Amino acid sequence: MITIRPTGAALGAEIQGVDLSQDIDDATFKQIVGLWHEHEVVFFRNQRLTPEQHVNFSRRFGELELHIRKDCCRPGFHELFVVSNIILDGKPIGSQDAGLFWHSDLCYLKVPSRGSLFYALEVPHDVHGKALGDTKFASATAAYNVLPESTRQKIAGRKAVQSYAKGYYRDRNAGPRAPLSEEQQRRTPDVEHPIVRTHPITGKKCLFVNEGYTKCIVGMPGHESDALLGELITHATRPEFIYQHSWRAGDFLLWDNCLVQHQAVHDYQLPLRRHMERTTLTGSAPF
Ligand code: SIN
Repeated sequence: MITIRPTGAALGAEIQGVDLSQDIDDATFKQIVGLWHEHEVVFFRNQRLTPEQHVNFSRRFGELELHIRKDCCRPGFHELFVVSNIILDGKPIGSQDAGLFWHSDLCYLKVPSRGSLFYALEVPHDVHGKALGDTKFASATAAYNVLPESTRQKIAGRKAVQSYAKGYYRDRNAGPRAPLSEEQQRRTPDVEHPIVRTHPITGKKCLFVNEGYTKCIVGMPGHESDALLGELITHATRPEFIYQHSWRAGDFLLWDNCLVQHQAVHDYQLPLRRHMERTTLTGSAPF
């Protein structure tokens, strides 16, 4: 039987009593989806999943994205994007510096992702046994709900430009990245999305701008756009909207890429190893 333990923060809940390596019946799956929509982030502890089981469970939600950085995907599984600092035979096994700024996955696509399913395989710890490499999640609905009326009026009906190149070329711990290939550039032109987005299933409204990829507000002079965007981005990540997840190996966590933005905490380095794998669900055009 499923039990649920909300984190006590603005979002997030642990779901207990489910073994994701087993067949999940339709009623239980429906319950999980409902809890996910309600809590925006849900997680299961102590899971033991093969890559196939991770992918198959993810497919229950719908189509999966194949990440543009194929070199960062698990060999043989283009659906599994690897986030890790591990170097094997002189080559990184995945993206070493993913998610170090606030963002939502694939917000820069014409059709952004619905959600991500993240599995923790190896988690770094400090000498006292404290887990490192947490992930912070900010509720974009909580942020929208308390937005001052004057700000709501300024952004009503407006769109912002989301840019993959902006995030890709940011300063990174792992050093500068290779330039995007022509094919990668072709697949990721700048796109415009509403600043206030409506969740396609729950109808919840949320603030859809982030530090990582949002470049400017459409149709607004540069200085005005920078100031308003700065204000919105600071507001969206206020501490009261955040749940910080402390990982344990075997955690399986789902976040919603419309209702939530996230940021990885980079407070560890080799020889401390972190190895996570993510599937990313195809979403629908924002409105
Ligand atoms: C990501 O943004 O997909 C990675 C988040 C993390 O490593 O915690």
